[in-house]
Amino acid sequence: MVSEQVNRVWRLRARPTGNDFGDALRLEEEKTPSPQDGELLVKNRILSMDSGTRMYMTEREDSYQPGTPLGDPILGTVIGEVAQSRHPAYAEGDLVRCYGNWSDWSIATPLASYVAKLDGQENDLADYVGILGANGWTAYLGVVEYGAARAGDTFLVSAAAGCTGSMAGQIAKLAGCRTIGLAGTDDKCAFLKSELGFDAAINYRKGDLATQIASAAPDGVNLYFDNVGGDVLDAALTNMADFGRVAVCGLLANYSAEGPVPGPYKFDLVLMKRLTIQGFFSPDFYHREPEINPILRQWRDDGVLKLPIEETAGLENTVNAYSKLFTGANIGKVVVRV
Ligand SMILES: NC(=O)c1ccc[n+]([C@@H]2O[C@H](COP(=O)([O-])OP(=O)(O)OC[C@H]3O[C@@H](n4cnc5c(N)ncnc54)[C@H](OP(=O)(O)O)[C@@H]3O)[C@@H](O)[C@H]2O)c1
Repeated sequence: MVSEQVNRVWRLRARPTGNDFGDALRLEEEKTPSPQDGELLVKNRILSMDSGTRMYMTEREDSYQPGTPLGDPILGTVIGEVAQSRHPAYAEGDLVRCYGNWSDWSIATPLASYVAKLDGQENDLADYVGILGANGWTAYLGVVEYGAARAGDTFLVSAAAGCTGSMAGQIAKLAGCRTIGLAGTDDKCAFLKSELGFDAAINYRKGDLATQIASAAPDGVNLYFDNVGGDVLDAALTNMADFGRVAVCGLLANYSAEGPVPGPYKFDLVLMKRLTIQGFFSPDFYHREPEINPILRQWRDDGVLKLPIEETAGLENTVNAYSKLFTGANIGKVVVRV
């Protein structure tokens, strides 16, 4: 009987300070929930680690999703198997991706939890939270539509060795751009050039970043795909070409901030250089999965879009896995196998 099994659940017990999650998140044992009419009980197999979840651990009220109340489970995208279905469109054994919890089991309601049935084989399941999931669609639309990448553009991306940024860079290359990636170690920079086909890569922790971007992009940057905000955004703004575009995917450097965040200091360059700035948010385009995934799948199968999967085993190690996104210990997509 499923209902007699223990469900281990990560709950938010305090607001984290900075990127120290150890005291704020606690793994607690409770009874496995029972699905109500219209709901599914999902046995979680893979948890997607997403930088944006950090914002939901704060109290800010102007984010695109309300903060998680203290005591609530941590919400996140999961891949799992339907263990019990009380919804006519789903059967026991179906593999699904949905909004669930960092836990052994999740309750999902098909519409509210964005449940999608998966047709994948066991060995590429994690792709459904990578190339074939929200990060893939965000990278694709951020480059192709929101950023309007054009052949011949100089394209710059921050957090370039991470999940979203690495795909954005490869997609920009496929669109005919000259690609420059920013990453936090020399090894990551070497990886971007040798494995992912970036034309140039800059270690943003070394030297003056604005100067380094200027030498890699002497004619200016036409499209900057921003994942981090902060000082990196200022260095990018300084180097934008006239009429350049900034596609704001994420502002990771600010997610842990406890008060108002100053800057960007170079905001006046939006006027001087006649820039266009466009933010975008994946739930706005989840419905486009059937249109976008065949393109991404083809690129993956052709070997021109690659995404390393960095897997941590064990629900109890989730916080260690999650921290990698903020310490920069990851290359590619971070997942936890439950
Ligand atoms: N708009 C949307 O709908 C949407 C959807 C998905 C993701 N996103 C955004 O995409 C961005 C990347 O998310 P992800 O989940 O794919 O994570 P990720 O890129 O796989 O991992 C985050 C990376 O960011 C870098 N980083 C961390 N702190 C930094 C800082 N203060 N300054 C500069 N770089 C820093 C680290 O690499 P280094 O070694 O290079 O420092 C780290 O590996 C986030 O901003 C996220 O919110 C947005």
